[in-house]
Amino acid sequence: MRTIVRIGLAVAALATAPAVALAGPDTAACKMTPSGPALAPDLTAGQRVFLRCRSCHTLGQGEKNLVGPNLHGVFTEKPGAAAGFAFSPAFKKGAPARWTDQGLSAFLEKPTKVVPGTKMIFVGLPKPQDRADLIGYLRSQTGAGPCGK
Ligand code: HEC
Repeated sequence: MRTIVRIGLAVAALATAPAVALAGPDTAACKMTPSGPALAPDLTAGQRVFLRCRSCHTLGQGEKNLVGPNLHGVFTEKPGAAAGFAFSPAFKKGAPARWTDQGLSAFLEKPTKVVPGTKMIFVGLPKPQDRADLIGYLRSQTGAGPCGK
């Protein structure tokens, strides 16, 4: 009996272990919509999704702005806070007061729907799990706590 419990625990530990060690906790769930499911992010998968953002965004503290702003502190500071980046008037007017997981998920699903007229030219990420993975990864790389906090 005791052995079975131990094996069960070992399997559970293996199942939750990330394939690649990335900084930051990855167990808290990312909320995709106010009423929708909370999904556990896979940071390694999120790193792959970020390949679609990388030509325009850096994540590390003090890294430079590209076509889009550096995203360090994006969950903890006000939207549009990146120093030296010229945000569009549409963004200044239409961005929320703060990026929650839900709000950022909606923006990444279809940027022009959340901020009409934004100069972020990106078609969007239709899959909730892609957005959860990416948001978990972004949090881990931009100095924020885990998803859901
Ligand atoms: C073609 C370039 C481009 C791509 C690709 C792109 N972005 Fe952007 N992003 C921008 C620009 C430009 C802005 C500024 C928007 C504005 O001023 O209207 C922006 C703004 C943002 C913001 C708001 C920043 C803030 O200070 O609040 C976030 C968050 C963001 N992008 C995340 C992403 C993520 C995540 C991806 C990948 C899924 C992505 N972007 C893909 C160009 C891009």
